[in-house]
Amino acid sequence: MTMDAEFYSRVAERFGGYFSDARSTDVFADGRPDAVFDELVNALGTSDARLLDVGCADGRSLLRISRAYGAVTGIDLSPSMLECAARHLAESGLSHVTFELCDAAHTGLPDEYADVVTSRRGPLIAGEFERVLRPGGFVVYMGIGEQDARELKETFGRGQNFDSWNAKPLSEEIAQELSDAGFIVTRNQAFRFEEFYHSASDLDTFLHQVPIVDNYDSEADKKAFDGYVAAVTASQGIRLSRHWFVVQAQKPARVESSHS
Ligand SMILES: C[S@@+](CC[C@H](N)C(=O)[O-])C[C@H]1O[C@@H](n2cnc3c(N)ncnc32)[C@H](O)[C@@H]1O
Repeated sequence: MTMDAEFYSRVAERFGGYFSDARSTDVFADGRPDAVFDELVNALGTSDARLLDVGCADGRSLLRISRAYGAVTGIDLSPSMLECAARHLAESGLSHVTFELCDAAHTGLPDEYADVVTSRRGPLIAGEFERVLRPGGFVVYMGIGEQDARELKETFGRGQNFDSWNAKPLSEEIAQELSDAGFIVTRNQAFRFEEFYHSASDLDTFLHQVPIVDNYDSEADKKAFDGYVAAVTASQGIRLSRHWFVVQAQKPARVESSHS
């Protein structure tokens, strides 16, 4: 297992999936990125379309949109997350969805298998996505932007994509990777929003669920954690500023040659 998959397996074992009971009140100034993502993926679905979701984790997000498609495959590298996904699938009663332990870089799927490939805060492997998509098919990707939780990471002196706020926007990097692989980028939308955690204990729980601060340890990181909480506590709660983005791209349709 990769470090990434080990982290997510620990999350699944501790919380029973890719979620925690950390309480927050969220304020979406630019709309909800997850709702926009679902809307885009639902709009591309048809009863005979095939959807491949990479980094599906516990499968709950995928199951929510799977009824729009005829066949749905979710892949992930974490066996513990996939155990949770199997449980959610059984509860859903859906028979056209499968979950598999598989690396998104080597799906083993046939060329041009899928109509749509999605990754929701999961991996982006532009070359493999291009190979498994049919001409005219779409990638829909939801990622974490360079400004995400910046104040928290600055206080801790480390974190996911630390210092990337001084570099090229991550959404542009993703769009460039997709263009370089032959895709036409059809959407690139940023979302800034605020999460207000109801207590220090809620924020502490959340930091164990996500890889925002690598190797987060409640004891060892207590000084930085307390400093952050003291600096950002407002009447609504303990603020965490988020920055996500959604990129959609299309594989060019095949041009039929005419014989005259
Ligand atoms: C942030 S979680 C995604 C959560 C899920 N997509 C959702 O929206 O609820 C990222 C997931 O990607 C998986 N992952 C990371 N690298 C991967 C790879 N190369 N192939 C397949 N899955 C991968 C991790 O195991 C983890 O479950």
